[in-house]
Amino acid sequence: MKLKIAVLPGDGIGPEIIDQALKVVNAVCNKKGHETEYTRGLVGAAAIDDSGDPYPEETHRICMESDAVLFGAIGDPRFDNDPKARVRPETGLLTMRKKLGLYANIRPIMTFPSLLHKSPLRKDLVEGAEFIAIRELTGGIYFGRPQGRSEDGNTAYDTCVYHRYEIERICRLAFDFAMKRKKKLTMVDKANVLATSRLWRETVQELAGDYPEVEVDYMFVDNAAMQIIQWPKRFDVLVTENMFGDILTDEASVITGSLGMLPSASIGLHTSVFEPIHGSYPQAAGKNIANPLATVLSAALMFEYAFDLHKEASLIRQAVEASLLAGIVTQDIEPLNAATTSEVGDLLADWIEKSKQF
Ligand code: IPM
Ligand code: MG
Repeated sequence: MKLKIAVLPGDGIGPEIIDQALKVVNAVCNKKGHETEYTRGLVGAAAIDDSGDPYPEETHRICMESDAVLFGAIGDPRFDNDPKARVRPETGLLTMRKKLGLYANIRPIMTFPSLLHKSPLRKDLVEGAEFIAIRELTGGIYFGRPQGRSEDGNTAYDTCVYHRYEIERICRLAFDFAMKRKKKLTMVDKANVLATSRLWRETVQELAGDYPEVEVDYMFVDNAAMQIIQWPKRFDVLVTENMFGDILTDEASVITGSLGMLPSASIGLHTSVFEPIHGSYPQAAGKNIANPLATVLSAALMFEYAFDLHKEASLIRQAVEASLLAGIVTQDIEPLNAATTSEVGDLLADWIEKSKQF
């Protein structure tokens, strides 16, 4: 099979972690006889520096013409403390999501047996915790208009907007996930306060009729934030709107023991994007210390979702388990005696090459 992949390293540690993911993708493809065609594109601060546009037309074209996008990270502190900055790197990510129609962000929250001791939660709470958070990605307060300031500059406003069709398509996808798993869906909202949340709830109640086997649990977001930490095993498929999903998945990543472990898939109308859920970690950029595993696991999701190649995905996950077991891990996991970013990538590629599985 020929895999046409757009590679968007982005900012900060993006280029380093993407390099490791590519080593892994190459190792799997060599093994299985797939051909790869990579096209690199600029995004984020790197693209602003080049052209002034954080998601240039050229990058969009590359994404549209590829079968999948492998994405590093976005963000640069040069822009963070300048509230008046005209363009921001993050706008590039949001524009990409909107233009590619990536309305569903799938974030599998998992635990790794060899990392249980790294979680700030008790072992009995974490062991076996595993759920899928499905975050709506192209609506809500991230995109609602009007947004801005009053003329005198003393008032600022954001608008949260959801149309029924936007809620329906993401929730159908969530119901479908639930049907393939434990037939249990938790819908998180703030229906006791927000009109958009009430529309979400109404829409889910209507859809539930089409999925009589799925048990739906409605939960307010403040309560969900508490329960994710108190008893993560109660969740199986969680669906929520854009901003709640952003916050809850950062929180959920803590269960795993390191933010550097969790991958994501963004799917929708055009090419799907695979990216770690963590940010660009600028303090570590260029130091060869960042954890590449979230990006490597995002590449595993890419094999599954974009190419329907499940054995390839499984091989990558096994390689990751092997590196964790061998203790070849970066400093976020093992502050003393840490491996470098590229050492972890080399080990994974080598493990895959030597694996007797195919
Ligand atoms: C994420 C990030 C982004 C978001 C930022 C970088 C705009 O936090 O992908 O979770 O808020 O969606
Ligand atoms: Mg986030």
